[in-house]
Amino acid sequence: MLEVRDLHAYYGESHVLQGISFNVARGEVVTLIGRNGAGKTTTLKSVIGDIADRRGKIRFDGVDIAALPPERIAARGVGYVPEDRGIFATLSVIENLTISSLRGPDAWPLAEVFALFPALKARLHQRAARLSGGEQQMLAIARPLVMGSRFLLLDEPTEGLAPVIVELIGNVLRQLKERALTILLVEQNLRFASSIADRHYLMVNGRIAKMLKNSEIATEEAELREFLGV
Ligand SMILES: Nc1ncnc2c1ncn2[C@@H]1O[C@H](COP(=O)(O)OP(=O)(O)O)[C@@H](O)[C@H]1O
Ligand SMILES: [Mg+2]
Repeated sequence: MLEVRDLHAYYGESHVLQGISFNVARGEVVTLIGRNGAGKTTTLKSVIGDIADRRGKIRFDGVDIAALPPERIAARGVGYVPEDRGIFATLSVIENLTISSLRGPDAWPLAEVFALFPALKARLHQRAARLSGGEQQMLAIARPLVMGSRFLLLDEPTEGLAPVIVELIGNVLRQLKERALTILLVEQNLRFASSIADRHYLMVNGRIAKMLKNSEIATEEAELREFLGV
């Protein structure tokens, strides 16, 4: 579904992604792991067209999207949930879900979104700023579903959340996988990552150092923790 080949990204003089290649097959959940500054967020931003200076091949569903503007990439079904969640704090839950006019062919009806996130239905007219951290994350994940994303890029969705909420988010991601969504997840929490993902790419200093099958996480955990600095 997503195929990235020899991707380079720059912030001014700074050469941040130094030729990374990876792929995500339809229906897979794949993580990018690596310590702070490794280039994980830059990788997601490159895919959605939010990094001006990037080179390399990015194919989505067989189409070269590297030259497309972000809104055209989103319209093809690529949804992005940034680390800061990207929701509108002063708008209500329902306004956050309906403010974008983008409705792809796979857009979820609101009823289905609320079946997955009952907590959001109970807070329909509450401002996003007044939701708990977990509810905000759910709203952030709900937005691309309403727009019709088939492929989700999630940047550290469990960061700062209590363990019980992390588990809830894990359940949501498993349900999305069952519903044939494809997910590329940036994650620092190895245990969480291995509880939902099929494969993992370890990023070190702007490169992909290693690809691991999920079954390899347990056997290489000590080495990985050293790489991750956790
Ligand atoms: N807007 C920016 N301008 C300049 N440098 C940046 C910017 N964003 C990130 N960087 C640098 O790029 C590198 C990779 O950052 P990032 O992709 O955010 O890493 P990660 O998400 O793995 O923590 C880091 O060295 C970071 O300091
Ligand atoms: Mg990051």
